[in-house]
Amino acid sequence: MPALSSSPYACAAPHIAALFPSGVAAYEAQGPYTIDLLFDAERPCIAHAVESRVHEFIAGRVCARAALAQLGHPPVAIPAAADHAPIWPSGFTGSISHAGGYCVAVAARLTDAGQKRGITSLGVDVEQVGQVLPTLWPQLMCQKEIARLQALDERDRDVTASLIFSAKEAFYKAQYPLTGGWVDFGDASIVLLENSFVLNLTNADLAIAQLARSFEGRFLVGSGHVITALAI
Ligand SMILES: CC(C)(COP(=O)(O)OP(=O)(O)OC[C@H]1O[C@@H](n2cnc3c(N)ncnc32)[C@H](O)[C@@H]1OP(=O)(O)O)[C@@H](O)C(=O)NCCC(=O)NCCS
Repeated sequence: MPALSSSPYACAAPHIAALFPSGVAAYEAQGPYTIDLLFDAERPCIAHAVESRVHEFIAGRVCARAALAQLGHPPVAIPAAADHAPIWPSGFTGSISHAGGYCVAVAARLTDAGQKRGITSLGVDVEQVGQVLPTLWPQLMCQKEIARLQALDERDRDVTASLIFSAKEAFYKAQYPLTGGWVDFGDASIVLLENSFVLNLTNADLAIAQLARSFEGRFLVGSGHVITALAI
């Protein structure tokens, strides 16, 4: 991979790239930004959005373009599809996440046909710790996950609940470009290890289950937030 390229609007985030296999570029940013940083094809995505959403959308595009630039891709529009998934330039994939004004985007070249191991899709997710409240657990967690959370003290519980939720969302973002399919929070359970996690599918009928029944990702715990990462 070429040396980290500089962007006036986003910072290279090697600590986030390190959560992925080699070949992934990661950039982070904290707005606010002005709308002139968007391509015309991207502007309709936020035509009726509130100000905070406009800023996070621009931050995502700024970070995504910086990540693509590091991989040698010239500046390009990254519009959103009708299902809100970003449309990456041909031959590339990536993922975007924002929380509390902070934004991260990752990108990689798609694996060439015939290459045995490589990247076909990416998922990244940021969550602020303390937002996955116990009242939400029944919608977001399976019984085993709830039992594990209940055994923890309050601080560990908040971080662990955020990690489980975030890992599921990172997985969802990674699987969606491959399947176009919905995955419910109850369709998967997370096992957290030291700096990594395993997502086990509990619903064998999902399209993504044709590919594998378990997926590995990595995570980091920052000050007040967690970041999860998963490559397929
Ligand atoms: C789509 C979803 C994962 C986004 O996560 P979020 O925490 O709400 O928001 P984030 O800021 O982390 O991510 C938003 C970004 O995800 C990306 N995104 C949206 N829909 C997507 C999709 N279907 N596939 C891939 N990426 C998608 C977009 O880039 C979006 O940012 P943008 O609109 O500024 O471009 C979430 O809203 C959702 O629908 N979750 C339910 C499904 C799920 O997670 N199931 C768990 C299965 S185990």
